[in-house]
Amino acid sequence: MVQYMQLELSELFDVSAIRKDFPLLSQQVDGKPLIWLDNASTTQKPQSVIDTVAQFYEQYNSNVHRAVHTLGVQATDAYEGAREKVQRFIGANCASEIIFVRGTTEGINLVAQTYGRKYIREGDEIVLSTLEHHSNIVPWQMLAQETGAILKVIPVSDRGEIILEEYTQILSSRTRIVSLAHVSNGLGTILPIQEMIKMAHQYGARVVIDGAQGVPHKCVNVQSLDCDFYAFSGHKMFAPLGIGVLYGKQEILEDIPPWHGGGSMIRSVSFEKTTYEAPPAKFEAGTPSIADAIALGAAIDYLTNLGMSNIAQYEQKLTYYAMEQLPQIPGLRLIGAAKDKVGVLSFVFEDIPPTEVGQLLALEGIAVRAGHHCAQPTMQRFGVTGTVRPSLAFYNTYEEIDTLVEVLRKIRCN
Ligand SMILES: Cc1ncc(COP(=O)(O)O)c(C=O)c1O
Repeated sequence: MVQYMQLELSELFDVSAIRKDFPLLSQQVDGKPLIWLDNASTTQKPQSVIDTVAQFYEQYNSNVHRAVHTLGVQATDAYEGAREKVQRFIGANCASEIIFVRGTTEGINLVAQTYGRKYIREGDEIVLSTLEHHSNIVPWQMLAQETGAILKVIPVSDRGEIILEEYTQILSSRTRIVSLAHVSNGLGTILPIQEMIKMAHQYGARVVIDGAQGVPHKCVNVQSLDCDFYAFSGHKMFAPLGIGVLYGKQEILEDIPPWHGGGSMIRSVSFEKTTYEAPPAKFEAGTPSIADAIALGAAIDYLTNLGMSNIAQYEQKLTYYAMEQLPQIPGLRLIGAAKDKVGVLSFVFEDIPPTEVGQLLALEGIAVRAGHHCAQPTMQRFGVTGTVRPSLAFYNTYEEIDTLVEVLRKIRCN
C-alpha cells in the first residue's frame, strides 16, 4: 500500500530532493533525526528564502520608496516586485490590493479597526464559525464591545464540518461581516468558503477570510472566491516570520480609513491637516519589513516551482495515510474527521494529557504542538481542553508518519 502510493507520488515530485532544500530538516535533536510535524504553527524555510534575506543585508540593505540612490531603488524594486508576486499567487486584480502586514493577526485587526469602525453600529451582526483561531475572534469581540455589535457563531458537526443549514439561519439583513477560516488550524477542516461567501453576499455582508492555514496548502484565487478581504502569514508558507499579507478589494481599500498613522502613508502633512496616500501605502505606515517581504516573494517562487496542485495532491495522500494509521493505536481518539481536510491531525489519548504526549514525542525528535492551539472554542466543542496536533507539509514523508505511529504506540503501552 505504502510502496504503491510512494511510486505514484514520485511522479509528482521527489520529496527526498525537496527535503535537501530545507537545511533545518536534516538536523538531529538530542541524538534523534528531527521530524518536524509542527507546520500549522510555523514552517521551515528553503535555502532560497534564507539566501534572499542574507543577500538583502549583504548587498542592498536600504529603506524603500524615499531613496533616490542606487540601493534604495534596488530595495524598492525588489519590495514592489514581491507585492506583484503575491498578487499573481493569490489571483488579485492588481498589486495595490496587496498590503504587507506582520501576519494574519495584524491583517484581521486592520480590517476590524478600519472597515469595522467605519461601518459597524449597535445591533449589527458579525458572523464567525466555531472553528476560528483566536486571531479571528478577539478583534471582532473588541469591535463588538466598542460598537454594540453582536457576534453570531456557526456551529459545526461531530466531524468538525460547518453546518450549512445553521449558517443559513444565522444570516440576515443585520449581518454586516462574515469572517471565516479558510482552513481550521485545530482540526484541518477546509471550510466551503466559496459557497459561504456567496451566501453572505446575498445579504450584503462583507466577507473576511483568515487564510493562515489555507494559502500553504491550497491554490487560492481571491477573485474567483470573491472574498472582500483575505489575510495570511508568511511564516506558515515557508517565508520568514514577521511578514504577512492582507488582500482587500480595491474599492473597499480606497473607501476605508487608514489604521496606523506615520511616514509613508501620507501625501502631505501640516499641523492643520494630513492627506493620505492611495492603497496600499495608506495602510503601510512606517518602515516595512523589507527583507522579509522580498523573501516572501522567494517562498512564492519556490511554491510555484513545485506547483500548488502537486503539493495539495501529495499532502492529501499523506493525510489519508496518517488518518488511516492513527486510529489503529489503542485509546487514540481523532478529533476532526472532515471529508475535506488538510494534514492537521488532532487527537487525544483518554488517559495521557496532550502536553505529556507532546513531551514524550519530543524526546524522540518528533516536534508536534500540544494544547488548545489558540482555538479554545473548537476544543470546547469537542469536550477537550487541548489536543496533540501533528501537522503536515509537503516535505513530510510516509516514513515520518510511520515513526510517529510507532512512538505513539510505545507511549500508549508504557
Ligand atoms: C487559522 C489561523 N489564523 C490566524 C493565525 C494567526 O497567525 P499569526 O500568528 O501568524 O498572525 C493562525 C496561527 O496559527 C492560524 O492558524
